[in-house]
Amino acid sequence: MKEKAYFVCTNCGYESLQWFGRCPKCGEWNSASEIKAKISKQNRAVVLSLREAKKSAETINRLSTGFTELDAALGGGILPGQVILLGGEPGVGKSTLALEICNQFSRNGLETLYVAAEESVDQIAIRSQRLFHDDPEKIMVCSENDLEQVVDLLNHNYSLLIIDSLQTMYSPQVGTYPGSILQIRTCAEKIIERCKELSIPSIIIAHITKSGEISGPKLVEHLVDTVVYFEGERNTELRVLRIMKNRFGPSGEVAIFEMTEDGLKQVINPAFYDTEDQLPGNCLTCAVEGSRTFVVQVQALVSRTKSAVPRRVSNGFEMTRLLLLLAVIGRHMHLPIESHDVYVNILGGLKITDPGIDAAVVGALLSSMLDKRIGGMSLIGEVSLDGSLKHVHRLKSRIEAIRKVGISSIIIPRTAELKEEDIQKISSVRELGRVLGVT
Ligand SMILES: Nc1ncnc2c1ncn2[C@@H]1O[C@H](COP(=O)(O)OP(=O)(O)OP(=O)(O)O)[C@@H](O)[C@H]1O
Ligand SMILES: [Mg+2]
Repeated sequence: MKEKAYFVCTNCGYESLQWFGRCPKCGEWNSASEIKAKISKQNRAVVLSLREAKKSAETINRLSTGFTELDAALGGGILPGQVILLGGEPGVGKSTLALEICNQFSRNGLETLYVAAEESVDQIAIRSQRLFHDDPEKIMVCSENDLEQVVDLLNHNYSLLIIDSLQTMYSPQVGTYPGSILQIRTCAEKIIERCKELSIPSIIIAHITKSGEISGPKLVEHLVDTVVYFEGERNTELRVLRIMKNRFGPSGEVAIFEMTEDGLKQVINPAFYDTEDQLPGNCLTCAVEGSRTFVVQVQALVSRTKSAVPRRVSNGFEMTRLLLLLAVIGRHMHLPIESHDVYVNILGGLKITDPGIDAAVVGALLSSMLDKRIGGMSLIGEVSLDGSLKHVHRLKSRIEAIRKVGISSIIIPRTAELKEEDIQKISSVRELGRVLGVT
C-alpha cells in the first residue's frame, strides 16, 4: 500500500498536488490541508463477463423500508451497498424516518447500526418509545461522531447503517472542524468506501442550506447512489419524499407521508383540493410528479397596491416560474398586474415542480384579479414566453385523475391530439382569458 499526498483547500474543497499559500479558487490564505491517500498496487483489476454479473445480480434482493410507497419510489426497496443521502430541513422528520426504517429491518430479523452524532442514545430511545412498540433488540445505537471509530465498528452483521448526520461527523485525520467542506467530503468518502466493501446499505442524513440544497460540496451528491429530499411545511403534517437522483431506479419519484404522534404514516391517495363551490382565486388542475398524478388546487390572491415594489409570495410553486407567468399576463393580456401584490399557494403544502400546472396558476391569478369564479373547470397546460399554451406529458392520465374527482369540464392546449366531449382546446393565455370570461 503506497501513500500519496495531496492538498485540499479547507474553505472550498479545491485540490492540488502542490502546496499553495493562497487558494487559487476561493482566494483564502493558508487554507491548504495535506491529505494522505492510500493507493493499493497489489490488487489486480477484476474482469467479469457481463453474463456472469447479470446472473449474480438476479439473486440480489431489495430490502423493504416498511413503507410500500417509499419502496416503490426507490425502485423496489434498498439494494445491498446502496448509499442514500437523505436531506431535509430541521425538524422535517429525517431521524424519525431513519429510525422507522431500522425498526422494519429489525422486524425482519436484520441488525442495523444507528450512529447518532447529533443526539444522545437516550434521546433515540425516547423517540423509539413514541414511534413503535416492537422490541428494538436488533437496532444498535451509538452516539459517536468520530468517523474512524464508526468505520471500525462496521462489520458484516449489520444490514443497514444510519449516519445522523453527515455534518456532525468528523475524521481526526482532517485538521478542520465538523461540517467543513473537507470534513463532509472525507467522511462521505470513507463511509461509502466501507459500506461498499461490506455491501451494507446506508442512509446518510444531511442538513440543507438556506437555499434548499444539501450543505457541503455537490460532489457528495455525485458520490452517493441515491439522493432523497424530505420536504414539508412546519405548519402542516404533510411530508413529501422526493427522489432527486437514483442509480438503481427512476428519479423524480415522490412518496407522501403524514407526521403523526406515532410517527410517519404513508398517504396513498392524498387530496390537495376542495371540490366545494369555489370562490374567485381558485383553480383545479392535475400535476405529475415522478410517475404519480396529483389533483391540486391552486389558490391566488391578487390585490391592488400603491407600492412601487409589489409583493410576490409563492408557496408550493417555483418563484421564478410565477414571475414568468406574471410577465406573460402583463405583456400578452395587457393587464396591469405590475400594480398588484400577488400571493400564490398550492393547497395542502405540496411543492409542485411540474410546469403543466402553469395554465391553472394563470387561471387562479386572473380569477382573483378580476373577481370571477372559474367554477367546476380544470386547466392543464404549460405557458411559454410567447403566451402560447404548450402540450404537457401524460395528458390522458391527468384528465383521468381530474375526472375521478368529479370534474368533467377541462381545458387543454390546442396542440394535444385528443378529441373528447367536455374538453376544450385553446392555444394561448389570451384565449384562456376569453374562455374564462375575464378579458
Ligand atoms: N409527540 C409528537 N407528536 C407529533 N409529532 C411529533 C411529536 N414529536 C415530534 N414530532 C414531529 O417530529 C419532528 C421531529 O422529527 P425529527 O427529529 O425526526 O426531525 P429531523 O428532521 O431529524 O430534525 P433535525 O434536523 O433537527 O435532526 C417534529 O418537528 C414534529 O413535527
Ligand atoms: Mg434529526
